[in-house]
Amino acid sequence: MISRNDPCWCQSGQKWKKCHYPIKPPDSSSDLAEEYLKKYGIILKTPQQIEGIRRACLLTAEILDKTCSMAKAGIKTDELNTYAHQLHVEAGAIPAPLGYGNPPFPKSICTSLNNEICHGIPGPVVLKEGDIVNVDVSCILDGYYGDCSKMVIIGETDPERKNVTEASYQCLMRAISILKPGVMLCAIGDAITDCAVEFGCSVVEMFVGHGVGIGFHEPPNVPHHRNKMQIPLAPGMTFTIEPMINAGVSGGYIDKVNKWTAYTNDGKPSAQWEHTLLITPTGCEILTPWKR
Ligand code: MF3
Ligand code: CO
Repeated sequence: MISRNDPCWCQSGQKWKKCHYPIKPPDSSSDLAEEYLKKYGIILKTPQQIEGIRRACLLTAEILDKTCSMAKAGIKTDELNTYAHQLHVEAGAIPAPLGYGNPPFPKSICTSLNNEICHGIPGPVVLKEGDIVNVDVSCILDGYYGDCSKMVIIGETDPERKNVTEASYQCLMRAISILKPGVMLCAIGDAITDCAVEFGCSVVEMFVGHGVGIGFHEPPNVPHHRNKMQIPLAPGMTFTIEPMINAGVSGGYIDKVNKWTAYTNDGKPSAQWEHTLLITPTGCEILTPWKR
């Protein structure tokens, strides 16, 4: 057996290790994938997995757009749920929220109104002029996950609700604009916080974005508030950014009865927009291209 310090077999006169010794390039993507999985529990997706996740995300965005175009004064949030559920079934997809968690989430989408931060449960409540509502759609297609949400303003609303709705959109887009390999995960929270402050708003800390794609909620957590997560973004990472931005204080509490819906502590409005993102070699790709 030839060893590293023996002369190379090619008769160059060099040691084997300096000549034709087989080495894996140190930046080979499988090494990086192994490191990310070991160190952080993060799955860097293969091109084949990315294809599957991209399809799931495209469907998720399409269902979100269609469902939101039904959100008008006079419609019940449960009717939005029924419609979205039907769109999942027709596409051969599964609504990820349905039966998820403990206690099991009872519906197929989340609809969060006004002072609800997130995880609102569709029901008999009728949308009315001036409401702001977040619709959150997550679907499973061929085993892959997509997750996104956006706000709908019902007719004309007041300046405070309008401002927080605009703020949360700008926070999401500001965060997306900095994404590329090597950027630290904590820079997302900095970008969002800076933007929220410019709008006179606060950032919810009790819920975070998350890895997504192979599972519904994978590592890493993606905090929207200031934090110290020193994880460099790497190509093949797929995760959500879904800043929940409050007009007043950042604190919230969870419904004692349904154990899901989160409300702002001060009763002031909250808003949220969400994309699933893929880190590419040069930047990022928005996998859930919903229309604003
Ligand atoms: N985008 C939301 C999240 O990641 C979707 C919640 S669905 C629920 O938390 F089932 F968990 F409510
Ligand atoms: Co999410």
